[in-house]
Amino acid sequence: MARRRRGLFVTFEGTEGSGKTTQIKLLAASLRKRGFKVLVTREPGGTVIGKRIRGMLLGTRSVMCSETETLLYMASRAELVDQVLLPALKKGSMILCDRWIDATRAYQGSGLGVSRAWIESVGRGATRGLEPDLTFFLDVPVRQGLERAKRRGKLDRVEQRQLAFHRRVRRGYLELARNYKRFHKISAGAVGPMHEAILGVIDRVL
Ligand code: TMP
Repeated sequence: MARRRRGLFVTFEGTEGSGKTTQIKLLAASLRKRGFKVLVTREPGGTVIGKRIRGMLLGTRSVMCSETETLLYMASRAELVDQVLLPALKKGSMILCDRWIDATRAYQGSGLGVSRAWIESVGRGATRGLEPDLTFFLDVPVRQGLERAKRRGKLDRVEQRQLAFHRRVRRGYLELARNYKRFHKISAGAVGPMHEAILGVIDRVL
């Protein structure tokens, strides 16, 4: 059984259709095979309240201003930190989390123009200062990703936004990737090579 003294907090980011879900599943399986205790969770969601908030945020009939939207993502995040992330880290688990506050920076900040200073200020409270050890940004050309999302089924409230919005989100992520050392950009492509690239980074920190 592989043992680490403290947990590891890994987040996955990307624009729509970047293949996060597949890569998280593959990484969780690889790490479990090596004997690590792995917890997979996501934002928004991951808790009872978070799932209800997810329904409000992604339901195509929801109408809300950008600030309300930001606060709902933050509320789901605060609940996840309290109920799931902090207890799991304490137990020494490895956490693979599908999205984090970087998504708010990119989608609400760069995409919708919500004040970054305000996002940082509310975010400090919601995250209690918790910072990922590693963040994988799966980068896919916007049009290609949206086509993929469309093939998966009906588009949700965020996916339905205009191409220009999704381009701003991608630019936001690219800027975050340049500014945060914990970011690792993985170009979207075949599933196997992406998994190998992610494992390569993980192996360097374990
Ligand atoms: P997912 O479908 O990748 O799980 O993400 C849900 C959607 O919510 C996705 O379109 C991105 C969006 N989102 C934000 O706009 N801001 C956030 O802070 C988070 C966590 C997600």
